[in-house]
Amino acid sequence: MSITLDQSTVLVTGANRGLGKAFTEALVAAGATVYAGARDPESVTVAGATPVRLDVSDDASVAEVAARLGDVTVVVNNAGIGRGGSVLTAASLDGFREELETNTLGPLRVTRAFAPVLAANGGGAVVNVLSALSWATSPAVGGYSASKAAAWSLTNVTRGELREQGTLVVGVHVGYLDTDMAAHVEGPKLPPEDLVAQVLEALENGDEEVLGDDTSRFVKSVLSGPPAHLVV
Ligand SMILES: NC(=O)c1ccc[n+]([C@@H]2O[C@H](COP(=O)([O-])OP(=O)(O)OC[C@H]3O[C@@H](n4cnc5c(N)ncnc54)[C@H](OP(=O)(O)O)[C@@H]3O)[C@@H](O)[C@H]2O)c1
Repeated sequence: MSITLDQSTVLVTGANRGLGKAFTEALVAAGATVYAGARDPESVTVAGATPVRLDVSDDASVAEVAARLGDVTVVVNNAGIGRGGSVLTAASLDGFREELETNTLGPLRVTRAFAPVLAANGGGAVVNVLSALSWATSPAVGGYSASKAAAWSLTNVTRGELREQGTLVVGVHVGYLDTDMAAHVEGPKLPPEDLVAQVLEALENGDEEVLGDDTSRFVKSVLSGPPAHLVV
């Protein structure tokens, strides 16, 4: 199951900024037809991509887009949020609920809606943008980590379920990226374009997982060790 980018029609969620914008730019440059999904389509600035109104936390929005875009062959589940705060001491669990709705149910909602479209078009691929925090966590990002851990599990189960229809499911893990989401973070951050290049190569090679930086490679390597190694 490998993907030929210049023959692909790709939907990118959260395509208006950050990693999603980098995906959109690189896919257009690679010769793909690109639908740039965004809550506000007017915020999409990438020339050559078609803006599409899409809120991944909204069932009706996702269903409407899937019914309309019958030519999609690759879905990039990129849209995500980080609300921060301790799951034990935050004033409420509202931020965590929002993270689950967007980061966990969002990609699942989009994958469910587009699975028949991908099948009809020969299989194609789903890319799920996860995180090193799918495996490691810290008190400041407990809800975000849990939402990405669940999204990782759903990546695994959907990979199994979609294998029969020939759909490649790629899980993407990375530490910090140089985008708005990590603007408050000091220290090394991967340029989003660097991660995108690795993901596009994985699609062309038919690889199921991308570990985009040293952080994600290290965290995966310590999964078999003591649980304390997964809390930073
Ligand atoms: N930045 C990091 O360090 C880092 C590390 C690992 C993984 N990631 C993951 O990488 C992905 C991209 O993040 P980023 O760094 O590019 O973050 P970002 O700069 O904050 O951009 C987030 C994008 O997601 C969109 N979005 C949020 N909620 C949405 C919804 N309900 N429906 C549709 N779009 C929605 C945003 O749209 P609006 O403009 O409308 O808000 C924006 O386009 C996320 O899944 C994130 O969890 C990020």
